[in-house]
Amino acid sequence: MKKAPIGVFDSGYGGLTVLKELVKTLPGYDFLYLGDNARTPYGTRSFDVVYEYTLQAVKYLFSQNCPLVIIACNTASAKALRNIQQLDLPQIAPERRVLGVIRPSVEKVAEITKNGHVGVLGTTGTVTSLSYPIELEKWSGGHVKSTVQEACPMWVPIVENNEIETPGAEYFIQKNIQNILDKDPQLDTLILGCTHYPLLINSIRRYVPGNIQILEQGAIVAEKLTDYLVRHPEIEGKLSQNGRLKFQTTESVENFEGKAALFMGHEVEAEHVHF
Ligand code: DGL
Repeated sequence: MKKAPIGVFDSGYGGLTVLKELVKTLPGYDFLYLGDNARTPYGTRSFDVVYEYTLQAVKYLFSQNCPLVIIACNTASAKALRNIQQLDLPQIAPERRVLGVIRPSVEKVAEITKNGHVGVLGTTGTVTSLSYPIELEKWSGGHVKSTVQEACPMWVPIVENNEIETPGAEYFIQKNIQNILDKDPQLDTLILGCTHYPLLINSIRRYVPGNIQILEQGAIVAEKLTDYLVRHPEIEGKLSQNGRLKFQTTESVENFEGKAALFMGHEVEAEHVHF
């Protein structure tokens, strides 16, 4: 098999916050980013729909030869990843791998929490799936004692509409953070469980007490992927390494390129695809 890029999938632009860190940490590798911008957001959609769309995207990235696909979207990781890994992959591509963003975050929380009191901020879909509390219970090796969650349905539209650091944004950010602090006054670690939230970090920090660690996923996913590649030479050996980045979107290229620059911090060139 010819060597090929790592596929990075998101419902839209948000996964670029993860891609940016992947490129920083693993600059030699090639990445193919796919944003399903035509059907974003996923955060408000049902389990079945998110699963269907995510599986289509994964199959598309496999058709582009990607040996490894990272689902950068929390909602898709929460609602589709387990089915894809357990039901679909053995049928469609047993030699390839699909990884998400929840498990690396959970492992990191287990390493850094001091008192086991964890909070998760995410989309309505991620929060209602209960994926974080379930995974934290299962994979934190007993380090996590309590998990509280808060859905922040206004935060994605705030970022998408470039309303960052406006009075409207501050209102919703303060409100959601106060809600989660009220749910557990002993919180010591807060997971930003959505691709878009790192763009709101300055505002978030204003309302989160300094003793609470805020976990942004991009760097964590990059760190855990680096480790994964060392442990899985059979996958690593199939990855092309020319330091190339390619962007594809199901929406118009003009729309994508404008907003992607905000997430990546530099101009990008994209291609329209349909799957
Ligand atoms: N990428 C999604 C996530 O991380 C946020 C955007 C959406 O709702 O599609 O949950």
